[in-house]
Amino acid sequence: MYYFLKEPGGVLFFCLKMVKIIKKILLCPPEHFQIQYQINPWMANKTINRLRAKNQWLKLVDTCQRLNIQTDFIKPQRQLPDMVFAADQGLIKNHSVILANFRFQERKPETKIYRDWFKTQNFKILHLPKNLYFEGGDALDLGNKIILGHGFRTSPKTSEAIANLFKTPVFGLKLIDPCFYHLDTCLFPLNEKTAFYYPPAFNQASQKKLINLFPRLIALPKKEAFDLAANSLNTDHQVITNQKANFFTKKLAQLGYRVYQVNVSEFIKSGGGIHCLTIATETN
Ligand code: ARG
Repeated sequence: MYYFLKEPGGVLFFCLKMVKIIKKILLCPPEHFQIQYQINPWMANKTINRLRAKNQWLKLVDTCQRLNIQTDFIKPQRQLPDMVFAADQGLIKNHSVILANFRFQERKPETKIYRDWFKTQNFKILHLPKNLYFEGGDALDLGNKIILGHGFRTSPKTSEAIANLFKTPVFGLKLIDPCFYHLDTCLFPLNEKTAFYYPPAFNQASQKKLINLFPRLIALPKKEAFDLAANSLNTDHQVITNQKANFFTKKLAQLGYRVYQVNVSEFIKSGGGIHCLTIATETN
């Protein structure tokens, strides 16, 4: 959304301030959510309490709806316990979607089910070459640019392919800590100037790139990074986070954002938080 602001002298000027508003998201009910294999360090020796997971997920849905985000649901499938992590299914821009090419065999079958859903909603479906891995949790769209993590789930060369498909500059960042295997676990862009990040998740060169990308770059304390604070959702000066009130939430409040907290501890056992559980299908 672009705002007209009034200068002190009274002259109206056009302010290029982009406020991200999510209009619609897609989620997958956690009917079959479970830990049946281990593809990231979080999943080691964990068991899900399905009832608690369901209640946490319902609270997330309710919070999104109260923030005027329309919610769509995809039918969960038996044998696909990670299908709840909708963010990983692709990257969406203007009703086109670049589908994921999952790194691990266990998650590959999710793509067909999501592709069918996108088809029913008349999305333009775009594919990457088979030899390029890509998971949506590695992609953060800032409107005029895309930031893409690589190192664990996405191939370094995927950046170039996405830039060509979406005709948008893509900045690739190298992830080096296996606990932060997707970009959305360690980088949270709040607006075009401000982002939160966990510095040790990135190599030196990528930390420098981030400093150049965001004039206000705020480091998350280790404890909060491991509570997946970065895996939050922001829409129209509001942030839904799985974080208890502390550094992250205080900073957000100082920056003029309203914070809503939803406990997603059952999903964090699998290495995913609030952002991972949603995919924005329509934004402003
Ligand atoms: N267990 C899932 C995996 O390892 C968690 C995915 C979380 N998604 C995310 N966007 N960080 O693939």
